Amino acid sequence: MKHTIEMMISEQEINKTLDQLAERINAHYADSERLLMVGLLKGSVVFMADLCRRIKGHVEIDFMSVSSYGNSTTSSRDVKVLKDVQSDISGRDVLIVEDLIDSGNTLNKVREMLLLREPKSLALCTLLDKPERREVDVHVDFIGITIPDEFIVGYGIDYAEQYRNLPYIAKVVPLD
Ligand code: PRP
Ligand code: MN
Ligand code: MG
Repeated sequence: MKHTIEMMISEQEINKTLDQLAERINAHYADSERLLMVGLLKGSVVFMADLCRRIKGHVEIDFMSVSSYGNSTTSSRDVKVLKDVQSDISGRDVLIVEDLIDSGNTLNKVREMLLLREPKSLALCTLLDKPERREVDVHVDFIGITIPDEFIVGYGIDYAEQYRNLPYIAKVVPLD
């Protein structure tokens, strides 16, 4: 698709959002001994890198890779684990880190999967939230910025694997 991109959320605004998110997360986990942040590949890597450097105390990071695909019989979406976390999460405070919540399917399934392993607590954090696109209800504990239903890229988020390296978030504008 021929397109151009337009800056939507600047580096400065992203930094400010991360400072605010980190403040809330640090307050919430002030008594936690071994917080484990779990990023969902690949979109969350840039956000994870910047967010974890703002978290105080003992913090560990891990990653999971899941792919979501349609289930023709139930018209819902299933999630397949391509790479699991390496850590044993049972009894741990776990914070799932996502770049973007769209339908909510990815986070919802990952949440269900991780809950079966009996973490001490499980919370969700996303940089961006698109509530208009929600298909399944999922409670998100920490939300950076709520955005309208726009096609966005940058800061980890791709369009056909491109633009993850943009330091800001941009809108994709189709050209004819
Ligand atoms: C994107 C995004 C979220 C997910 C949100 O990931 O990074 O993880 O989709 O969509 P949902 O709420 O509808 O599940 P994608 O599957 O494109 O993989 P990527 O992170 O590797 O780009
Ligand atoms: Mn993703
Ligand atoms: Mg993607």
